[in-house]
Amino acid sequence: MTTENSILVTGGAGYIGSHTCKRLAESGYTPITFDNLSYGHRHAVKWGPLEVGDLTDAGRLDAVMKQYKPQAVIHFAAYSLVGESVRDPGKYYGNNVGGTLSLLNAMNANGVDKIVFSSTCATYGIPSEVPIRETTPQRPVNPYGHSKLAVEQMLADFDTAHDLRHVALRYFNACGADRDGEIGEEHEPETHLIPRILQSMTGHGPGFAIFGEDYPTPDGTCIRDYIHVEDLAQGHLLALRYLMAGGQSEQLNLGTGHGYSVRQIVDAVETVTGQKVDYDIGPRRAGDPPELTADTSKAKQVLGFETRVSDIETIVANAWTFHQSVINRN
Ligand code: UFG
Repeated sequence: MTTENSILVTGGAGYIGSHTCKRLAESGYTPITFDNLSYGHRHAVKWGPLEVGDLTDAGRLDAVMKQYKPQAVIHFAAYSLVGESVRDPGKYYGNNVGGTLSLLNAMNANGVDKIVFSSTCATYGIPSEVPIRETTPQRPVNPYGHSKLAVEQMLADFDTAHDLRHVALRYFNACGADRDGEIGEEHEPETHLIPRILQSMTGHGPGFAIFGEDYPTPDGTCIRDYIHVEDLAQGHLLALRYLMAGGQSEQLNLGTGHGYSVRQIVDAVETVTGQKVDYDIGPRRAGDPPELTADTSKAKQVLGFETRVSDIETIVANAWTFHQSVINRN
């Protein structure tokens, strides 16, 4: 199937990838999901074809590119567990860096010259300033962050040498679920704050613990910038349109600019669900910076990006609805 508006979406069966595929389809594109299904879900691919394959399989990538002739690539496929990256860095460099190199070579060979890349606030490590600007020094503190920063460098070099343009989107904390309830956050294992709280409330995960209450923040718990996955999906669409219109390579934060502490998230969950959250106070988790919030002005200036549904009540309500639908499905 060749369509004039195919976009290759690596990792399109994953959390942010699947929400972006839905947004692309709503906007007239045909998302072609390329995913090895190691973490992604076949049932999350609803808005275009699924091509099962691994990024490190150059022959398979080349065949898919030749079949669909995509106008651009949106590249989500990556491993993203910080703790695992510390224990097994080879897995992260092999897939996140090696897989991306294979992808860029296949793009070059097939004349595809635009890519939107999933980068992360983890490239800033423990930031020297908050809110974090794109010019804040990038000093990752774990192999996951290093692997993403290495790809940002690779993208810059491919632009210089081959005019392959990119937008690297540095996400802050992705959360929430599709407001229509069609897709949501389904990680296995689940490590993220909001789903961990919800799972503990319904007995579908381990008990919930706050990782440290002795941080230099107003209530002692870590502060993060939580952005609804639908807003992230919209950010990808805008980045794609920007590149299609001839925009030059850019690196942009995607966040809300507002921080919530872990305790404030617990409070929001109690308010939205009307239920009490039981929790323990545990030790700090290694590598957690006290505060990560985004300066969002550059994404607004370059893409016209603004969050629309990232208020914490909407985020928690959509995550709660999706969590219950998963329970009922299983
Ligand atoms: N937290 C808890 N208990 C839990 C889970 C999380 O207290 O059971 C806390 C964490 O310590 C942190 C906050 O909730 O302060 C958010 O934790 P998440 O694991 O949900 O998200 P992170 O901030 O660790 O993750 C984000 C991005 C990742 C990125 C990482 C790098 O989502 O992609 O930052 O630091 F890799």
